[in-house]
Amino acid sequence: MRISEKPLAARLKELGVELHAGVSLSEKTSLGIGGSTDELVLRRFDTIPEVMRLLADEKIPHRFLGGGTNVLIDDGELPWVVLHLPTSQPGMRVEGNAAYVDAAADLGGMVTFCAKRDLGGMEGLIGVPGSVGGALRMNAGAYGTQIGSYVREVELYRAATGAIETVRGNDIRFDYRHTSFAPDDVMLRVKLELPSKPFKEILAGIKVCNEKRRASQPLNQKSAGCIFKNPPGGSAGRMIDELGLKGHRAGDAMVSDRHANFFINAGKASCADMLRLIDDVRERVRIRFGVELENEVILWKN
Ligand code: EPU
Repeated sequence: MRISEKPLAARLKELGVELHAGVSLSEKTSLGIGGSTDELVLRRFDTIPEVMRLLADEKIPHRFLGGGTNVLIDDGELPWVVLHLPTSQPGMRVEGNAAYVDAAADLGGMVTFCAKRDLGGMEGLIGVPGSVGGALRMNAGAYGTQIGSYVREVELYRAATGAIETVRGNDIRFDYRHTSFAPDDVMLRVKLELPSKPFKEILAGIKVCNEKRRASQPLNQKSAGCIFKNPPGGSAGRMIDELGLKGHRAGDAMVSDRHANFFINAGKASCADMLRLIDDVRERVRIRFGVELENEVILWKN
């Protein structure tokens, strides 16, 4: 989708919005997959409602892209513009046991920033790639920690009302890789409440998690983390592994030979390759185990 309307481009510029034409989203995703579109960079949250109104008036569909680490984006020319909310460094501050963090901040960066100020609890999240906003939306978790447990307030843009709102943590449901946020809510900032813990102790926990992750996950390859959610009481990775599918491919999309629930881009994989691999593996698991695996990765496709 291209913004060719001159008056719209001029108005966006007046609002301080940067327009990057024809950006390849394969460069913005951890899978290295995604077609091209125009990107709008919004440095000020208060411009979001106006930008949304302008795009709606011109009937220009849009999507917000965060860290790009848990999304599989279609190939070719994309039918939506992409909006990005960058953070000013470091995008976080601590007051007592509260941490105030921009959604665009790096999740791992947040864990270490808080650790250095003797605030712990989030050690398990250390190697989870992506932004704080993406982690909030999905209720990211690893090694017994999930971000939702620490959320006290979220500031968001609510598309349903066209306004920026603050939601209390108690009013948000955080389930396994799922939250009660509306699909078009846009995370802006979060307030977390974290337990006090000496930096040294937090660091020891971080080291343990890092080692476990390094031993079991393909960290140096292009992936979106786990492709499927674990079914209740089961493990998608173990089932795919038991089917002997490590190394199984569709084009350049490949089941990791380290962790079978990680699908990697082993070269120039397209979205179509990845979808063929996902469908193929899902079908084999269904036939063998009678379990219908649900995607964990978010699919951006028309
Ligand atoms: N297993 C295999 N073969 C494999 C992979 C795993 O046999 O190829 C076995 C393991 O030996 C273990 C069990 O399956 O007995 C579970 O594996 P693991 O501990 O790696 O955890 P997981 O359930 O596969 C989940 C999360 C990960 C998170 C880890 C650590 C999901 C879908 N995955 O993986 O999160 O990092 O636990 O807490 O919930 C993600 O969300 O993208 C993600 C990678």
